[in-house]
Amino acid sequence: MTWRGVIEEYRTRLPLGADVEAVTLLEGNTPLLETPRLAEALGLDAHVYVKWEGVNPTGSFKDRGMTVAISQAVSEGSAGVICASTGNTSASAAAYAARAGIDAYVLIPEGQIALGKLSQAVMHGAKVVAITGNFDRALELVTALANEDSITIVNSINPYRLHGQKTAAFEICDALGRAPDQHYLPVGNAGNITAYWMGYREYHAAGVVPTLPRMMGFQAAGAAPIVVGRPVTAPETLATAIRIGNPANWRAAETARDESNGTIDAVSDAEILDAFTLVASVEGIFAEPASAAAVAGLKKVNAANRVPASSIIVCTLTGHGLKDPSRAIDQCPPPPTAADHLGAVRKVLRL
Ligand code: F0G
Repeated sequence: MTWRGVIEEYRTRLPLGADVEAVTLLEGNTPLLETPRLAEALGLDAHVYVKWEGVNPTGSFKDRGMTVAISQAVSEGSAGVICASTGNTSASAAAYAARAGIDAYVLIPEGQIALGKLSQAVMHGAKVVAITGNFDRALELVTALANEDSITIVNSINPYRLHGQKTAAFEICDALGRAPDQHYLPVGNAGNITAYWMGYREYHAAGVVPTLPRMMGFQAAGAAPIVVGRPVTAPETLATAIRIGNPANWRAAETARDESNGTIDAVSDAEILDAFTLVASVEGIFAEPASAAAVAGLKKVNAANRVPASSIIVCTLTGHGLKDPSRAIDQCPPPPTAADHLGAVRKVLRL
């Protein structure tokens, strides 16, 4: 049967009334790819899979939550939605709002979001404001605006977002026939780790899977409030998607970590860039830098001998690398040029 989007596929496990119509772009059903060359490159004796979320309709995992949040907002008669964003949430909110025929308002930190993400929000007709402050400040302002006007906030403090995002955990269990042993993912505003843990727990409680994974979250070292145990006032990382100093779902992420006997740790920008290049070059998967924090985290945990032999590992690759091509180009030397004849091209290609 053809895929109907995460709401119709998992409606019985979502808190939506039967009369709520799905606003969907047929998100979800993303590939769970086994990545043996990545495992080998990392020196891992384990089954490593990636949940490739960059192939969602707007190129990130945010679409799973947005279909649910915007469907609910429309059913409540909301005329518009608002969010603060490091880029992907705004791209997704703008697309689903366009699909629903309602307004989208977006606050972003000026100069700190990848151009691809900004172009998506603009193309989908969102009203975008770039503020001088960072993401954390944008979220404060958005929360105040949503309270004062009757527009719905669609950041991950909106519970419907997390219910949508938990469907990725369902898909992983459905594909593997079990839960993984360890699940790695990047942590920014800390919604996704919270949502995955909710999904795994629900499947476990319903008897669909007999075990639960350890949740392994990774922040960028310059934006690692959960790791250092206090808000970071001036977060810095080249992985702009997770450049967040005071995550909204901080406590819930700690609960996911503690209940699952997992970890929330930090990886450096250099480690993130290494993993970014590695996944693209050995597996043909072009994920964005923030996504690579999960793989950098797996490398770090393995180096500490904390990945049991033969275990089943899943890393979520949260967003598509094409959203920020200049970051990728910066990683590579510019291509050599050649005159337009065979000899010259052969010489450069060493063929
Ligand atoms: N990876 C990507 C590509 C993201 O865009 C985000 C968050 C994360 C990971 C972290 O997920 O916030 O649930 O812990 N992006 C948000 C945004 C903040 O505005 O697009 P999280």
